[in-house]
Amino acid sequence: MNAATPVLSVRNICKSFGGIHAVRDVSFDVGAGEILGLIGPNGSGKSTLFNCILGQLRPDSGQVSVNGKQVAGMRACDLNKLGVGRTFQMLQVFPQMTVLDNIILAGQEHHGNMLTRLFGPPDAGLTEEAERLIEFFRLGHLRDELAGSLSYGQQKLLDAAMAFMAGPSLVLLDEPAGGVNLTMLASLKERLKAFNAERGTTFVVIEHNMEFVMSLCTRVLVLADGAIIAEGKPEEIRRNSQVIEAYLGG
Ligand SMILES: Nc1ncnc2c1ncn2[C@@H]1O[C@H](COP(=O)(O)OP(=O)(O)OP(=O)(O)O)[C@@H](O)[C@H]1O
Ligand SMILES: [Mg+2]
Repeated sequence: MNAATPVLSVRNICKSFGGIHAVRDVSFDVGAGEILGLIGPNGSGKSTLFNCILGQLRPDSGQVSVNGKQVAGMRACDLNKLGVGRTFQMLQVFPQMTVLDNIILAGQEHHGNMLTRLFGPPDAGLTEEAERLIEFFRLGHLRDELAGSLSYGQQKLLDAAMAFMAGPSLVLLDEPAGGVNLTMLASLKERLKAFNAERGTTFVVIEHNMEFVMSLCTRVLVLADGAIIAEGKPEEIRRNSQVIEAYLGG
């Protein structure tokens, strides 16, 4: 791997559901330290593309590599070990567990081997890491609350925090800002930027909130009807007539 190897490389991904061409021959690269926004009207194939990239769905064709390594067919826990974290469009928190336990659990599947699981501390030594993340995402006052008792916005923040438990170098977020109020949105954006600046974390972010995307991302990719119709800096995308048309017609 040399310095120019993309962190994420997606080549010719196609995915159909029956007669619906959800993703049509999508290719793009993401370089180290980029924050790539993935936008497009409802149903344009954004989540399907994420799911093809990270193995929740098997693409009909195409390749995906992370740091030069092919990841087709890889399980989520192995992707985690490669330094990839993600969130889903739907919340993935356990409502009957505390904030702290949700974060610890998110770290468990990719931590340790059978020996450390048998003889190590019951929390696999993850509490300290989880506490750090809770503070980092400013959820400290909610540490021992049941996740189900949190507001939707607070749960979204917890959900995002969970994607960082493995110390990932690449994080894919599917609509992290959906339903989150303005104050928390600013907090989330600032936290993601801090990860990017302090640890060089690379991001791909699906989001409908244009203000959030335009102020967070270094580059934006636009999907319409399963295909990439535009790619560029936020300010270029903002005034791209094809993009405006795709949204108005959608
Ligand atoms: N499991 C599935 N079975 C059948 N069709 C599906 C499935 N998942 C997605 N689709 C279809 O594929 C297309 C793309 O859906 P997808 O969820 O990827 O869009 P999206 O861009 O994430 O939309 P949104 O912004 O609303 O989340 C849609 O037409 C959708 O109905
Ligand atoms: Mg989606």
